[in-house]
Amino acid sequence: MKRLILEGFMGCGKSTCGKVLSKEFLIPFADTDKEIEEAEGRSINTIFEESGEEHFRDLETALLLDLSGSDRFPKGVISLGGGMPVREENRALIRSCGTVVYIRASAELLKERLRKRSAGRPMLKDSSIDERVDRLLSEREGIYMEIADHIVETDGKEVYQVVNELKRIYNSSVR
Ligand code: S3P
Repeated sequence: MKRLILEGFMGCGKSTCGKVLSKEFLIPFADTDKEIEEAEGRSINTIFEESGEEHFRDLETALLLDLSGSDRFPKGVISLGGGMPVREENRALIRSCGTVVYIRASAELLKERLRKRSAGRPMLKDSSIDERVDRLLSEREGIYMEIADHIVETDGKEVYQVVNELKRIYNSSVR
């Protein structure tokens, strides 16, 4: 098994970089949000609205249990929803899925991106983007760090530069 697990805040570029890496290396790509949306037949927004955040978090944990306990995805790159590592029980599961990379972006960069792209992200509803990013990021930064095997800083870098770092990590990873 050889999987790269990309974690990080909404808007950090996990999916963008993961997809480029998968194309260049001809390895499979999975996005946990997309997997959940497909399995449920409804969008993340609708899941939050109809069933609540706790239910969405249960679906995330169930998906992680499935991924960690099966070989249906033996190699490739997996982009995690930004809140997945918050549940304590998920952290060991995430680590058991593969080599964990924290795609790190500053609060300023995240705010700039998310101001333009908050639609479809229920965690950014109902208060200002800046406040939400500051609060959630301060709660999550330590958690992302705690489970990461590698940290890739993205501020000031082009996608191809981040992907080059991911390639090096993938090549040297063993799980
Ligand atoms: C969330 C991040 C989203 C998605 C859901 C909740 C979060 O994924 O899982 O809206 O709690 O940070 P992205 O990080 O891919 O936007």
